[in-house]
Amino acid sequence: MSVKYHNVVPWGRSFKEYVDMFSLTDEDLNRSILGCSDGPASFNYEMNRKGKSVVSVDPIYEMDKETIRKRIGETYLEVLEQTKANKEKFIWKNISSVEELGKIRMSSMNLFLDDLEEGKKHGRYVAGFLPELPFSDNSFDLVLVSHFLFLYSEQLSFDFHVQAINELLRVAGEVRIFPVVDLNSRKSIHLDEIIGLLVSQEHVVSEEKVEYEFQKGGNTMLKVIRE
Ligand SMILES: C[S@@+](CC[C@H](N)C(=O)[O-])C[C@H]1O[C@@H](n2cnc3c(N)ncnc32)[C@H](O)[C@@H]1O
Repeated sequence: MSVKYHNVVPWGRSFKEYVDMFSLTDEDLNRSILGCSDGPASFNYEMNRKGKSVVSVDPIYEMDKETIRKRIGETYLEVLEQTKANKEKFIWKNISSVEELGKIRMSSMNLFLDDLEEGKKHGRYVAGFLPELPFSDNSFDLVLVSHFLFLYSEQLSFDFHVQAINELLRVAGEVRIFPVVDLNSRKSIHLDEIIGLLVSQEHVVSEEKVEYEFQKGGNTMLKVIRE
């Protein structure tokens, strides 16, 4: 059986997971960060609690808290069922079971939901979507994209990836994307060509091993520093 979602699902990870997925150092955490496609992750809430600067951008922020809660409720069981049916594609070490996964994700998403209205007032959650973001050039030092680009390689075309990454490099000098495997833990079909293109544009590109690995083989991020 393979993992297949018709839409990009709202699913949220924690600050600790972001640190591990993107190898974030204390110095990185003090940079001005854009979390693109942060959805219902608690990264923004937890960063704000630590006095750090992060803006999250995602199409779901157009909706209010109760509508997002309902959407999470609608997809929650589907995600857990698909994960259960594909259990062998994941590493059950830090998270030991599908039930624990559900609890951990819900606890991050509830932190996000409780923070959403306050965060919107302060401009921490901005509605917008790739490939065109509502920010001027160089608004941020670093953009993080977790579980959107490359993961949904079947649903999102090569051209979309190229436009999206160029847009991210317009708003920040450095872009990190995790993971670079698709929903079935296979290397993204777009990855090699995208790396070749970015290198030909003279950006500094590296695929770097990180501490985080939940999808088997999903333990590298793509780092791009604008030329
Ligand atoms: C699987 S969630 C990942 C959430 C979070 N980054 C994390 O890792 O916990 C993917 C997110 O991508 C967002 N998304 C969908 N289409 C998008 C687009 N065109 N531009 C930016 N984000 C998009 C979805 O709304 C969703 O919140």
